[in-house]
Amino acid sequence: MTKIIIFISGRGSNMEAILKETKNGILKGIAETVLVFSDKEDAKGLQTAKDFGIKTTSITAKGKNRNVFDNELIELLSHYKFDFIILAGYMRILSEIFVRTYKNKIINIHPADTNLHQGLHAYEWAFENKMQATKITVHFVNEGVDTGKIIAQQEVDLRGAETLEEVEKRGLAVEHKFYSEVLSEVFGVRS
Ligand code: GAR
Repeated sequence: MTKIIIFISGRGSNMEAILKETKNGILKGIAETVLVFSDKEDAKGLQTAKDFGIKTTSITAKGKNRNVFDNELIELLSHYKFDFIILAGYMRILSEIFVRTYKNKIINIHPADTNLHQGLHAYEWAFENKMQATKITVHFVNEGVDTGKIIAQQEVDLRGAETLEEVEKRGLAVEHKFYSEVLSEVFGVRS
């Protein structure tokens, strides 16, 4: 069984999808979530994780620079046994020291083709550029922002999507299914 820690910063709908798939879907018997971590104490997703019976914790970022925060986080994680860190809407950029500590063990979902768009507001970018399609990307995390090795991508049809809400709705529907599918393949290879 692959042990994972999920990182969130807010709503946590991708985390929820993974927890559902772990309980009763494609990740059942393959993955186990040992912790949900947030850099925001008030992240809505923390309650969702608790409702699934998953242990949660957070560290406040207030007044700490990136290295101080990440060193605290590394210390916290040293008390857990896990194979992968799964970023699911984790909006804090990870320091080099963090990424090096968990080299090839951090996976992220990005709501755009990381070759074309990195960082925040990827659905706004697709909407404002009137794109007919965008690509959801699951990738390993390296020291850059959304520059790590791509594991898999899935296209989202945006034809006829007239509002940003519609773009997000279509994108998230793909994210929720796709992330667990890709993770099941990555973890399946390990076992
Ligand atoms: C998702 O669309 C995720 O792909 C995106 O934030 C949203 C989080 O929603 N992540 C990024 O933009 C990372 N650069 P969620 O909290 O409901 O999963």
